[in-house]
Amino acid sequence: MNTTEAILTRRSVRHYEAGFKMPESDLTTILRAGMYAPSAMNKQPWEFLVVTDSVLLTMVRDNHPYAAFLTDAGMGIFVCVDLSKEYNGMGIMDVSMASQNIMLQAHDLGYGTCYCGIYPDRCEEFNDLLKLPEHIQPIGLIALGKPSKEVKQPEERYNSELVHFNQW
Ligand SMILES: Cc1cc2nc3c(=O)[nH]c(=O)nc-3n(C[C@H](O)[C@H](O)[C@H](O)COP(=O)(O)O)c2cc1C
Repeated sequence: MNTTEAILTRRSVRHYEAGFKMPESDLTTILRAGMYAPSAMNKQPWEFLVVTDSVLLTMVRDNHPYAAFLTDAGMGIFVCVDLSKEYNGMGIMDVSMASQNIMLQAHDLGYGTCYCGIYPDRCEEFNDLLKLPEHIQPIGLIALGKPSKEVKQPEERYNSELVHFNQW
C-alpha cells in the first residue's frame, strides 16, 4: 500500500474479531512507526502503554464512554507524553503525530484502529488503574486489532474552500 492509499483508506474501526492475537513483530513495526514521528526539538517525549490484559482492558473500556469495542480489539495503546522530556508544552502535538503514524502503519499491515480521546478530560482517570507515574500523561488511546467488518469510505473530503493561498 502506498502512502496516498494508506492515508485515504484508513478509517476508524469499531468492529473487531474477538480473540485475535497479533504477532509481536507486527506490534513492534507499528510502535516503531510511532517513534519515527516528528517532534518538537526532536525530544521524542512519547511513551506507549500497551494494554492486552483482558481484565484491565475491560476496566479501561468501562471507564471510557466511547470505547465499547476495545475488548474485542484485544489491545489498547495509551499514547502518553513524558512531561519531563517534552519541549515547551508541545508534547501533545508530538504524541498526536506519533498516533497518526501508528494508525497508518497498522492499516498498512491490515489491522484496524480507532483513536479514543483521553486529553483533555480523561487524563487523570486511568492513573491509578495503570499505575502511571506523575510525569506520564496519557493523551490518547488507540484500539488496535483485526477488523471484522469493512468500514464504509466517506464522501470526498477535499474541499477547496478550506484552502487559502498567501493571505486570507
Ligand atoms: C481527538 C480524537 C478523539 C476521538 N475519540 C473517539 C472516541 O472516543 N471513540 C471513537 O469511537 N472514536 C473517536 N475518534 C474517532 C473519530 O470519531 C473519527 O476519526 C472520525 O469520525 C472520522 O472518521 P475516520 O477516522 O474513519 O476518518 C476520535 C478521534 C480523534 C481525532
